[in-house]
Amino acid sequence: MKNTASTAEKHPLENIEQWEENLLDRYPDPESIAQGRDTEAYRNYEAPARDSVREFYRLNHQYQTYDFVLGKKREFLAFNKREMPVWDAFVFLNQLVDDSDPDTDLDQLQHLLQTAEAIRQDGHPDWFVLVGLLHDMGKVLCLFGEAQWAVVGDTFPVGCAFSDKIVYPEFFEHNPDTYDPRYNTKYGVYEPNCGLRNVHLSWGHDEYVYHMVKDHLPEPALYMLRYHSFYPQHRENAYDHLMDAHDHEMFKWVQLFNPYDLYSKAPTPPDWNELRPYYENLVAKYLPKTLKF
Ligand SMILES: [Fe+2]
Ligand SMILES: [Fe+2]
Repeated sequence: MKNTASTAEKHPLENIEQWEENLLDRYPDPESIAQGRDTEAYRNYEAPARDSVREFYRLNHQYQTYDFVLGKKREFLAFNKREMPVWDAFVFLNQLVDDSDPDTDLDQLQHLLQTAEAIRQDGHPDWFVLVGLLHDMGKVLCLFGEAQWAVVGDTFPVGCAFSDKIVYPEFFEHNPDTYDPRYNTKYGVYEPNCGLRNVHLSWGHDEYVYHMVKDHLPEPALYMLRYHSFYPQHRENAYDHLMDAHDHEMFKWVQLFNPYDLYSKAPTPPDWNELRPYYENLVAKYLPKTLKF
């Protein structure tokens, strides 16, 4: 992205939750459809919000190039911005709450806690619960002044042809990589079925949190963190040709995680003070005293 990008270009969404609301529009909860409650709430999604999301993806698809991703990795995977205990990071993350948005009654910590609690109630291993708690921690990128389209949004491989199964594929016509012969073939810079560990995805909060905790959690947890926004694959199977057998095995976890992320909004928010001892123990069991950002 050019440094001259305007504020409007950095913040096309009223808040970053509009992306998740749009996900619910695209991938409504199958259970609520079956129960006839249906997706009315999602379909009531107003035109201005839809336009914001459209504009968001226009910018995302234009600016997320192969070079952009490598540049952001150099910048943020140095982890030289801050160091803080996980608990301070939650407080930091909660600065993202936007009071001006009437639909946002959940702060970031509540979303993380609800996701984690839903996983815990289903009896999954504790590191899976921890994934729920941590998965959106990378959104602190917004607080470092990053554009929304470089923090949230569906992720997709760069350095090879963009799939038409990615949301708003037409906007890739504004991405210079579309016209670059190094990057615009089916495999681009990659080998067939080379495995996702060799593939660069568009830059955002998934990749960032994965690197933050990659030395501390079991591999299925790391896949869930790293690929939870990779809807073009875990929902659309658009990149089987880059995945290897191990990725496919691990994506069962990514798919298992996704409904907890999308559909775990509870009418009664969990009581943080009551839950805090459990989560403090959980964090202490797996993570160092401080995390580097
Ligand atoms: Fe996320
Ligand atoms: Fe999330």
